[in-house]
Amino acid sequence: MKYSLSVTRKQKLFIDATASEVLFGGAAGGGKSYGQIVDALLFALTYRGSKQLILRRTFAELDKSLIRCALSLYPRELFTLNASSHTGKFKNGSIIDFGYCATENDVYQYQSAEYDVIRFDELTHFTEAQYVYLISRVRGANGFPKQIKSSTNPGGVGHNWVKERFVDPSPPGCRFVGRDGMERIFIPSLLDDNGFLMKSDPSYRERLMALPMRERRALLFGDWDVFEGQYFQEFSREAHVIQPFALPKSWRRYRTVDYGLDRLVCLWIAVSDTGCAYVYREFCESNLPIGDAARGIVERTEEDEDIYATLAPPDLFARSQETGKTKASLFGENGVSFTKTSNDRETGWLAIKELLSTREGEPRLKIFSSCTELIRCLPALQVDKIRPTDCQNEPHDITHAPDALRGFAIFYARPNEQKVKRRSAIWSADMWEDYYSCDERGRQYLLKKYGEPI
Ligand SMILES: Nc1ncnc2c1ncn2[C@@H]1O[C@H](COP(=O)(O)OP(=O)(O)O)[C@@H](O)[C@H]1O
Ligand SMILES: [Mg+2]
Repeated sequence: MKYSLSVTRKQKLFIDATASEVLFGGAAGGGKSYGQIVDALLFALTYRGSKQLILRRTFAELDKSLIRCALSLYPRELFTLNASSHTGKFKNGSIIDFGYCATENDVYQYQSAEYDVIRFDELTHFTEAQYVYLISRVRGANGFPKQIKSSTNPGGVGHNWVKERFVDPSPPGCRFVGRDGMERIFIPSLLDDNGFLMKSDPSYRERLMALPMRERRALLFGDWDVFEGQYFQEFSREAHVIQPFALPKSWRRYRTVDYGLDRLVCLWIAVSDTGCAYVYREFCESNLPIGDAARGIVERTEEDEDIYATLAPPDLFARSQETGKTKASLFGENGVSFTKTSNDRETGWLAIKELLSTREGEPRLKIFSSCTELIRCLPALQVDKIRPTDCQNEPHDITHAPDALRGFAIFYARPNEQKVKRRSAIWSADMWEDYYSCDERGRQYLLKKYGEPI
């Protein structure tokens, strides 16, 4: 018997993915459910006697999409489905259970079950608790590969946990190891990746285009960053995140820093000849003393990388009551000299919005896909309920990378008002003595001679 099926390039990536947890995600019509059904068939035929579970949140959805698709694709002479138990059996002994979990407690019907692969279709319809419980049913000593393979659109009750688990930690298509040691990968698939549907129903795209903005961004562009209360609604991965490329040497480079004991963020930004700012590197770490923070920044800056200015907020220039020194001067002693930016939050946020804006075509801010922390935090900032022109300071861990970017944006938006102090210097006690013994004119003279103190 000759039997052939074609798959899209993205479906093939999904089928071939070997990470423990795989997410196939993105737009409606990207070929996700079809990909699951073909992948399940290949697994069942490859591993005789294997067991798989395919889940949707409700039975109606399961019946209409996955079961229907399986019945139309699987060869009748190889596969039969028991209509009441929803168990499909292959001639080689492999099994596919079709299941659903309408309520939280429905997961317990799988208490004693054992599967080689569990597949969730429309994963964001499930809660994290359901997912975590069910994936513990992937076990067995038969030597077959053990995987959890899911597919989904953005949106739904599980949007945030799915995004955090699969989308935020790593650029799309790049396998990564989660904090729990599990290997994961997110493979996006958009409508344009599914030539079969584009050909059979060319007007489907227009129907998605007619949806309200948020649904359109989620369902047509597979955009994970749309949700209520988002401060930077201008942000979209499509427009602002790009693959890293080699930057021309002539582009002016900046570093911008946000530092607190709880977290250091340093962003490296290059500005093109046409004024587009590219965030091309990030360094984010918690609980670093100033010496280590400065050394970390220096180590990550290449030797021949000419940094025009390293920007830092005014609070780093405040003198400590105990030592009389500023944090900026301590950074300076460790090889990182700062230029002070403004801490005017609202002007700074507006400056970011201006850079993100696509009103006149291309945005003026682009972020390399390797800068995962900034890409995670920028769209997660929420509008402040009391001052809607500002954003919330909570959860605190997402504010640092945007704060660092804000320092750059406000500086970049008003370059003439804030001159770069390229030659700032650490002043010795003698220099300070000279300074304090002078009148105003003398002080101005010394400032020029010694450079701005840091
Ligand atoms: N490899 C393929 N070969 C033929 N048709 C396909 C293929 N992949 C998807 N399709 C068709 O494209 C349409 C959308 O696919 P589907 O898997 O339902 O998308 P999604 O689950 O991402 O919304 C369906 O009609 C499906 O039959
Ligand atoms: Mg589907």
